Amino acid sequence: MSLTTRTLHPEFGVEIVDLDVARVDDATFQEVVAAFEEHSVLLFRGQSLTDDQQIAFSRRFGPLETTIRSIASRAGTPIHIANLSNVDAEDRLIPAGDKRNLYNAGNQMWHTDSSFKRVPAHASLLSAREIPPVGGDTQFASMRVGYARLPADLQRFLDGKVAIHSFVYSRGLVDDALMPPDHAAQVPPVRQALVRANPVNGRKAFYVGSHACEIVGMPTAEARALLRELREAATRQLVYTHRWRVGDLVMWDNRCMLHRGRPWDESRYRRVMHRTTVAGAGPTAPDEGPASVNPMRQEDVAWGRAQLELVHRASVDRAGEGAGHVEDPAR
Ligand code: SIN
Repeated sequence: MSLTTRTLHPEFGVEIVDLDVARVDDATFQEVVAAFEEHSVLLFRGQSLTDDQQIAFSRRFGPLETTIRSIASRAGTPIHIANLSNVDAEDRLIPAGDKRNLYNAGNQMWHTDSSFKRVPAHASLLSAREIPPVGGDTQFASMRVGYARLPADLQRFLDGKVAIHSFVYSRGLVDDALMPPDHAAQVPPVRQALVRANPVNGRKAFYVGSHACEIVGMPTAEARALLRELREAATRQLVYTHRWRVGDLVMWDNRCMLHRGRPWDESRYRRVMHRTTVAGAGPTAPDEGPASVNPMRQEDVAWGRAQLELVHRASVDRAGEGAGHVEDPAR
């Protein structure tokens, strides 16, 4: 079989048309893997998956991560499923303002999954089980395309550098009560390469999601300004906004893609998304002992809060437009 694809964004992302991910033969699966390496984001529509089917398809890409213990953990969720929903274990809407929703709202900052783990995630597969009528989109931006568009001297400056990523830091940008000490102890800061090359095609990407908060050998303020500048370079013009339909399964490459969820009216509408996360092949930077992170500053918090608050209006304003949305005014 040869895959039929539709472009999602001129620079990355394709929909794979008419493929039932629960029934993919080995040859077709190899084509899916090749499409993933090339396009970084894959959309499969019309997949009404059980958790077991989602886990089985995801496992074909490699071993799966288990979720960390958090204030949003839900009893009864399989360990390989991250239940990103505003519904509790009794299937009731979680009240607006509840810390569990605030914790999940951390995913509304541009990030790459599990870059706070020593072995960061390879891929994530997000399945839309229930969606709100307005808002709750997910946006994607390519750090690979962002890197390719940087001036050559900046590319050279970044190559070989190491950044420090911390989940306690990034959730602290939302609210510093989201990570009690026993949860924080699960996720000490880790080192990650600042530039990563795809092992199949060699294309490089910077690696700078919201968990990145220091660059080894650089003063903190300078490092954080550079990290913000790089995120901005990837997300200013090169965004694909996915408007979910129930049954969509979207898979992305955490090695080179930033993503973020968009807000919706949590007090009225259910949004139930199940994510499986494929573990990476190994550490991206040498282990040189414990890594430390300086306290967050006003400009760091402002960067996080701006994403949590401002884009809400944009998301609501865009309600009723088409099924996907591409922003690249440079084209
Ligand atoms: C995620 O950050 O993995 C999920 C994003 C979303 O909920 O749209």
